[in-house]
Formats: sequence, structure tokens, C-alpha cells
Amino acid sequence: MNRKDFIKTCGGACLGVIGLGLLVESCKPMQYAQGTIVNNQLQINKSNFIISKEDKISYRRSVIVKSENLDFPIVVYRFSETEYSALLLKCSHQGSELSANGDILTCASHGSEFSNKGIPLQGPADQNLQSFKVTTDETNIFIQLT
Ligand code: FES
Repeated sequence: MNRKDFIKTCGGACLGVIGLGLLVESCKPMQYAQGTIVNNQLQINKSNFIISKEDKISYRRSVIVKSENLDFPIVVYRFSETEYSALLLKCSHQGSELSANGDILTCASHGSEFSNKGIPLQGPADQNLQSFKVTTDETNIFIQLT
């Protein structure tokens, strides 16, 4: 095998592995959490992100938070122990509810897609999603609603 064929083969294999990883991530069932609103802060426990399996602990990438006081759910992404983002699952195009597929948020109404930072990746939406300031302590995540 010459160098060019080797690069083509390895590059294709790498893309396949990356694509499979993204597919597996998007097929994982979403975790839902019930949030509590106190003083205009939506609070959830960090334990909602923990996956405990055979003495191994790993973390979910995202959790969807619902509260009876919210018109739309909020998706919370975990980037590290102290770094989270919170986005309203309301499309910035015409206000339909979005669904979370791994790190991509999609709108079934007209096909817009957003990143896990709320940035439009595909139109017709051209505005960022509403995001919220997030703070944490040892055990909780606090989402400032206004
Ligand atoms: S309402 Fe979401 S793309 Fe139109």
C-alpha cells in the first residue's frame, strides 16, 4: 500500500469512527429533570448528570429541565464540573419547541438546527437561542431565568 492509499484508508476509517460516535451519542435517551424555581432561579441537582454503572461514574452531556412555570423546557449542557450552558428549547425562527439530539438542537417545523451554545447552524433561523446565566455550587446548578 502506498502512502496515498494509506492516508485515504485511515482517513475514511477515522471519519467512520467519528460518525459512529456522533450517532451513538444522538441515540442515547434524554435525561429529564424536574427543576425547582426559587427567587427566579431554576435549580437542579448535579446528580442528574451522573451515570453510575458497575462502580464507574460517567456524565451525561445534557439534561432537559422542565418546570410547570416554564412555557418551554430548558436544555442544560455539561462541559465540565463547573461549566454548563442553559438554553430555552424555543426556536428563534417562529417559536416551535426544539428537540435535543446530542449536541444538536433541531426544529421540526422548518428544519433549523442549533449548536449546544444556541448558535444557528442551519436556517431559516438566524438568531441565537435564548440562553441563561448558569452558576453552580457543590451539588446544584442554578439557572438565572431573567
Ligand atoms: S419555527 Fe423553527 S425553523 Fe421555523
